[in-house]
Amino acid sequence: MNGASPRIILGITGSIAAYKSLDLIRRFDEAGVSVRVAATRNARSFFPLLTAEVFSGHPVMTDLFAKRNPSLSDTGGVRHLSLLEGAEALLIAPASADFIAKMALGLADDLLSTIALSATVPIFIAPAMEEAMYRHPASVGHRKTLAERGVIEIEPENGPLASGKTGLGRMADTNTILSRVLETLRGPRGGPKPLAGLRILISSGPTIEPIDVVRFIGNRSSGRMGDALARAASDLGARVTLVSGPTSLPPPPGAKLYSISTAMEMEKVLRDQFGAHQVLIMAAAVSDYRPTATKTEKKKKDGKNWTLELVENPDILKGLAESKKPGQFVIGFAAESILDHDQLLAKCRRKNVDLLVANDISNPDTGFGSTDNAVTLVFPDGTFDRIERQTKSAIARKILDRIPLGKLLNKT
Ligand code: C5P
Repeated sequence: MNGASPRIILGITGSIAAYKSLDLIRRFDEAGVSVRVAATRNARSFFPLLTAEVFSGHPVMTDLFAKRNPSLSDTGGVRHLSLLEGAEALLIAPASADFIAKMALGLADDLLSTIALSATVPIFIAPAMEEAMYRHPASVGHRKTLAERGVIEIEPENGPLASGKTGLGRMADTNTILSRVLETLRGPRGGPKPLAGLRILISSGPTIEPIDVVRFIGNRSSGRMGDALARAASDLGARVTLVSGPTSLPPPPGAKLYSISTAMEMEKVLRDQFGAHQVLIMAAAVSDYRPTATKTEKKKKDGKNWTLELVENPDILKGLAESKKPGQFVIGFAAESILDHDQLLAKCRRKNVDLLVANDISNPDTGFGSTDNAVTLVFPDGTFDRIERQTKSAIARKILDRIPLGKLLNKT
């Protein structure tokens, strides 16, 4: 949000809460954010289009193909693309159950759904519907799908609903919507977005390697460090892709999430994604071994010992770091019981990383499962730095501070 005033697209769908969108337009305007409105056909029944045109100072678009074009720089039939030009966020408020389902399925049969499918900017939805619809497994599933794609939900509130009942499903308050969107445009609490323009790929959580259909081996990892890195990087303006093994954490808002189970699955996704990112942060606890063969049925107990044969998994970090191009920066993690500087430096160089973040796992107050951490930073030139015990979120920001932005952003 540096320089010119930012621009958002406000998508309005068919919900009784659409009347609140007028207030949203006014409030964004007061905050210096210019708004273009795209409404669905159903929204027309709930919403005074003409008033919205006056409030926003621009025509309200509903049709994919323009018949007459008073003020838009439309390029032929691709009206959704000209609307997206220069936009920094897409906010769908209110987002009806029907529209959320369309987004989850990737349907694009009108202007707003086509915009939603083409947008590469952060997308927010502010659901508004009856409680039964909000809690229906179909709606829950669609919102989960969208969250995994990085769509940010501004949760509805409890209160009177269109049916006259009281319950969960009332569109979030205007102030809440405004501050969530502005936070993304301006960084948290109006702070700067030093990582804008940077694409960061983060691996997180454990990998689990199946022995048979019910048993597995894996590493201990809560995924909290990777989650903290993804949240901090998004807050600071980076576009984040998170590749995570199973954890109990909700997807971090704004990040594109790939959920995987095994090391081989993680390696494939990371290999596919690495080229499109300037930074890789390998915070996952990758299982070093996997069973040589996976049984397709549950092995029955037979009173005898069971010997498992394990094969080594590829070192994903080493493989990717070896293929890194100029303009890419790779950060690895090391979980050690003893932080020996010589060994850490040897690992940093062996893995060809630009920064190795070492955890002391012998300390129960930090590391596995804890919300705190204390780490040693190791650089290939033989320098070391220590970040003393603090929250994983604070540590994440200090690690991100070490990314050489000047070098990376000039290359793109
Ligand atoms: O060799 P070590 O397991 O200590 O290295 C840890 C670092 O290497 C972490 O960044 C981890 O994500 C990564 N790693 C990997 N593939 C493996 C094992 C570890 O990418 N098979």
